[in-house]
Amino acid sequence: MIRSVTKAAIQQYGFEVFGIEDGYEGLIFKRGHFLSWNDVSGILAQGGTILGTSNTADPFRAAVPKGRKKIIFEDQSESAVQTFRDWKLDALIAVGGDGTLRIAQKLFEKGIPVVGIPKTIDNDLWGTDYTFGFDTAVQIATEAIDRLHTTAASHHRIMLLEVMGRHAGWIAVYAGAAGGADIILIPEIPFIMKKVCLEVNERAQKGRRFSLVVIAEGAHAKGDPPFSHEDKKNPYPLKLGGIANVLARTVEEQTGLETRAAVLGHIQRGGTPSPFDRNLGTLFGHHAVELVHAKKWGEMVCLVGQKIKSLPLRKAVGISKKVPLNHPLILSAKALGASFGI
Ligand code: F6P
Repeated sequence: MIRSVTKAAIQQYGFEVFGIEDGYEGLIFKRGHFLSWNDVSGILAQGGTILGTSNTADPFRAAVPKGRKKIIFEDQSESAVQTFRDWKLDALIAVGGDGTLRIAQKLFEKGIPVVGIPKTIDNDLWGTDYTFGFDTAVQIATEAIDRLHTTAASHHRIMLLEVMGRHAGWIAVYAGAAGGADIILIPEIPFIMKKVCLEVNERAQKGRRFSLVVIAEGAHAKGDPPFSHEDKKNPYPLKLGGIANVLARTVEEQTGLETRAAVLGHIQRGGTPSPFDRNLGTLFGHHAVELVHAKKWGEMVCLVGQKIKSLPLRKAVGISKKVPLNHPLILSAKALGASFGI
């Protein structure tokens, strides 16, 4: 994506491209540098970002340490806007998920000419069919299910795989369907613990001596909050993760069947991007440059069907795009015998 923006901007319009380091942290602490054609050559197959990133820096709520233990939050958006002006930039292309793009919308409201690009493995941004990063994560999660299948089938075990997805179960549904999971648990469908155990038992009674369960980190039992190991007083968004281990213990206790859990974690957020994600990054980056050239501010590029378009950023942020309960993959998985834990 950075390659696409930089090359299209230089090649098509002779623009100069300035990369802000570590996301909004660079805007707060004034860190950035020009990007040349050579800087972005040969990075197409790299994951991550050559500029660095931060998912906690927010100019409207910048963390300021007070003493050794305390952190207070200050609105430093005026100074961030001033930095943008001091650098004499004409446009800001913000790349990220809901948090990043929500801040981009607020900067736009403060007069910064902004264009947004949706990037998150979670695929939970409104207004775009896909965000880039998602396809790669699904590929890795599917491979993980395939690999867990070996132990599940050979050792006759219940194997659980926890994938990312705080508010939406896109990765769990896509990878679960692709990997032929027997049970798929997502935040959109609070599960019933008894039902999950019943499914596992029923399979065992039918002679299916193993089960594969895929669970999104944000999935939770009906009436329970999402699971987190973290101190609830943490001032940053609560980190989820660990529900698969909790579930594995209960399933083993309730069914008497040997159960193991694996948490995929950041493995699904790294490494070589898939061809689909590379191309989506290229298309989004190029389209963002076209929006800059047309001075169409406050927009987010998006993929709708086969078309790259844009929509107002304000419409894309603030509500997470859930997996619809009538999504074709949910309906097909159900028709083929998979359970969603209800
Ligand atoms: O938003 C993307 C995401 O990968 C979520 O699915 C996950 O909960 C979170 O980031 C993890 O964030 P961190 O890397 O800060 O632990």
